[in-house]
Amino acid sequence: MSSLEYNFTNAWFNETENTGVWDSLFAQLKPTRVLEIGCFEGRSTSYLIEKLASCRDIEVHCVDTWERGEDVYAPNGLIEHEWTAVEERFHYNIKVAQSKVSHVAQVIIHKSFSDRALPKLLAEGKAGYFDFIYIDGSHQASDVLCDAVLSFRLLRGGGIIGFDDYLWQEPLPYGTDPLRCPKLAIDAFTNIYARKTRIMLAPLYRLYVQKLTD
Ligand SMILES: C[S@@+](CC[C@H](N)C(=O)[O-])C[C@H]1O[C@@H](n2cnc3c(N)ncnc32)[C@H](O)[C@@H]1O
Repeated sequence: MSSLEYNFTNAWFNETENTGVWDSLFAQLKPTRVLEIGCFEGRSTSYLIEKLASCRDIEVHCVDTWERGEDVYAPNGLIEHEWTAVEERFHYNIKVAQSKVSHVAQVIIHKSFSDRALPKLLAEGKAGYFDFIYIDGSHQASDVLCDAVLSFRLLRGGGIIGFDDYLWQEPLPYGTDPLRCPKLAIDAFTNIYARKTRIMLAPLYRLYVQKLTD
């Protein structure tokens, strides 16, 4: 195993908030096919690789534009050449994670908007393919709804979708705009798919939904 060091500049994904829940979910689910929408510099991706590929071979599909998008929050004022650095850090951190595990972690990168990447995966025959899907891309309600519905199609029965930032609110000078937050979309999805999913018991800032049936 290598002793290479990660290069992260943020801690959106951290041990206090995420890993306890993920560790207990993964102990049951034993995911081998994972889809992550919104990877940034690969902090959550690296955790997925280290955690899952220490036990078995895995396949991780990573969807991100790695360029300035609609979210004020995600680009966080970064200018174009900094996005290049973010993308480079992602590739570096993935290599570090792969060097630390005993099993094969195949990483398939989809550099694209999710509303193009996910239909492409469906067109390639990957309906019901994934065990775990983590949605942490655009935080605009209309985009999150699109990610949720397409992810449901890509998820196998018994698989789990994790929504990051369920209760996140964009700090705006005029207050909160629910259309620029994930919650409205996640609520619409869980209501419409209530007979096909169940909401899992977990701290509420992230919401985990299990697919029961097609
Ligand atoms: C909050 S960051 C992801 C953080 C990462 N999951 C972690 O915990 O380390 C959100 C990412 O989503 C990407 N993104 C935003 N809108 C997107 C879209 N419509 N399609 C694909 N990726 C998008 C951004 O480029 C950014 O890298």
